[in-house]
Amino acid sequence: MTLTYFKRFRMEYDLGQPLYEPPELPAGYWLLSWDERLVEGHAVAKFESFRFELDANVFPCLGDLEGCHRLVREIFSRPGFLPQATWLVGTQNNPSKRFEYCGTIQGIRDDRGIGSIQNLGVTPAHRGRGLGQILLWHALRGFTDLGIERSSLEVTAQNSKALELYQRLGFRTTKTVYKAIDVAFA
Ligand SMILES: CC(C)(COP(=O)(O)OP(=O)(O)OC[C@H]1O[C@@H](n2cnc3c(N)ncnc32)[C@H](O)[C@@H]1OP(=O)(O)O)[C@@H](O)C(=O)NCCC(=O)NCCS
Repeated sequence: MTLTYFKRFRMEYDLGQPLYEPPELPAGYWLLSWDERLVEGHAVAKFESFRFELDANVFPCLGDLEGCHRLVREIFSRPGFLPQATWLVGTQNNPSKRFEYCGTIQGIRDDRGIGSIQNLGVTPAHRGRGLGQILLWHALRGFTDLGIERSSLEVTAQNSKALELYQRLGFRTTKTVYKAIDVAFA
């Protein structure tokens, strides 16, 4: 067994402060609130967002479509799952104009009552247009609407793009954790 340790930061957002101003949803994108029929959409958007990213090494299920299906089903069946903090983005902004899912976020209330963000992901072709900030804003807004006072997420330290985005939006690092992966199976 060869273990590799990935450094990750736990970050928190104080929902007592005013929420940041999200960018406007760009033309040609649709924001979809939670619906049971969108399980497949969340799984596909998650897979396409993470399959070539560092986090697919940290959590191998993210690099596998069936693994993403299992993961979203598991998230949606948890007692703390929050439909109000779970959003999907769809678009036809692609050369073939076919509809595709291009962004996903899910929220749960953990056992300490904190609104926990699960796997924010935007597919590569649709990044840098504000979709990440929009999805995160809607999840945070879902938490505040439910009276939740704090939100948290975990980000891999080497994921500088995501880390900088979270810092800029007002998340603060509260803890450093190490995730051990057996590279023989990763
Ligand atoms: C992290 C991630 C979700 C960000 O999604 P995104 O849609 O690109 O995020 P945004 O567009 O809201 O913000 C990203 C950058 O684009 C910029 N941006 C925002 N709106 C923009 C617009 N209309 N036009 C151009 N750029 C814009 C933002 O200012 C931000 O700049 P920064 O790089 O200086 O921080 C995405 O890169 C991703 O899915 N990565 C892989 C999965 C992953 O690692 N997820 C995080 C797990 S913790």
